[in-house]
Amino acid sequence: MTPQPDVVVIGAGAAGLMCALTAGYAGRRVLVLDHANKAGKKILMSGGGRCNFTNLNTTPSNFFSANPAFCISALKRYRPEHFVELVERHGIEFVEKAPGQLFCAESAKDIVAMLLTECDWAGVEISLRTTVESLERHGEGMRLHTSRGRIETGSVVVATGGLSIPTMGATAFGYDIARQFGLEVTETRAALVPFTLTSHWKARVADLAGVACDIAVSSLHDGERKGPGRDRRYREPLLFTHRGLSGPGMLQISSYWQPGDELEIDLLPGVEAFDALSVARRETPKRKLSTWLSEHLPKRLAQSLGEWYGEDPPLAELSNARLDEWQLRLNQWCIKPAGTEGWRTAEVTMGGVDTRAISSKTFEVNGLPQLRFIGEVLDVTGELGGYNFQWAWASGVACGSAL
Ligand code: FDA
Repeated sequence: MTPQPDVVVIGAGAAGLMCALTAGYAGRRVLVLDHANKAGKKILMSGGGRCNFTNLNTTPSNFFSANPAFCISALKRYRPEHFVELVERHGIEFVEKAPGQLFCAESAKDIVAMLLTECDWAGVEISLRTTVESLERHGEGMRLHTSRGRIETGSVVVATGGLSIPTMGATAFGYDIARQFGLEVTETRAALVPFTLTSHWKARVADLAGVACDIAVSSLHDGERKGPGRDRRYREPLLFTHRGLSGPGMLQISSYWQPGDELEIDLLPGVEAFDALSVARRETPKRKLSTWLSEHLPKRLAQSLGEWYGEDPPLAELSNARLDEWQLRLNQWCIKPAGTEGWRTAEVTMGGVDTRAISSKTFEVNGLPQLRFIGEVLDVTGELGGYNFQWAWASGVACGSAL
């Protein structure tokens, strides 16, 4: 190991590697420690193995935090175009899968290889399978006790990420360090996570596993769209699974959902079911309801809807009162999830180290510049769509260039 690095970064993930290479290029001797056997494990599994590495439309409004202004400075200084330029310089092909969402054309491995190459060029040393046991102030700098011995350094950057997917090496270590040095940690919960259902609904949707459909979804508290973010509506696909409800629309709304809330799902976004069914009733009165439904929804879902509500009359037999009911079932289908799948499958952690005690320019702890926090360990959480990596890159660069 480097005898006395200027900087020790704890965590060889997206933010840690970006910070390390930036500080390395600035002439700092940087050592990155990670207890995992591989760097960038979450990058490797991200975006279904293709890593949605940024979103061209990133703005501060794509992030949740108790301190919403905190992310502005770093995001402004390191923008998606900067990361795209790096990706292009390494000859990595990418595709825009949805507006603004950039994914690797081949594999997320390309992003990890790029970061490791840059770290190598910047003279960064990476020590894997190294557990940090404790951290303390030591004169003007810091001292770490690790599974490979004691390390003294000028500054420590905590880039240990969030709590999701513990099997990938996620730990609460970053929060513990924050508390040790007197920082607050805001309440953490699993976000960008699929929903589980009660046994009643689980049995009903069991046959639908694998069915996806375009929907719009919002979260209701006591039947109303009251409270922070409840006016938020996401128009992105729903995927039925064996365990419950998943797909981008569900992951997005999970960031707003609180236990006990209902989801209001519009199965026909852009189509008013009452109006569309009235027209169909007039023009094709003999057509069965299930036939009409299967023209607007995936077949298996259309069939299930008929079964759940026990009716499949010719359209002519539907009174306006029943059309009203179908309007509710189709445009405002309400379902109360049992919960979420939790840390096991969540993509991110909502909450984290309270940013009010941290400089948004340098990411140092106010009054303790030897200690910094970056990336997901902080109370800054992005929506689905490449925003979380953009935060990791931007916070890593801001911190690395200030070291
Ligand atoms: P990250 O979790 O990447 O790195 C933390 C590192 O710290 C890990 O290497 C860990 O081993 C190490 N560590 C933890 N505790 C330690 C300890 N005590 N000692 C030493 N090392 C320790 N985002 C996005 O923008 N686009 C996407 O496509 C996806 N897709 C996606 C899929 C899945 C399945 C998940 C779980 C997550 C995503 N994300 C995502 C979110 C994204 O992966 C996440 O926000 C970033 O990886 C966060 O980067 P960090 O560097 O902060 O933490």
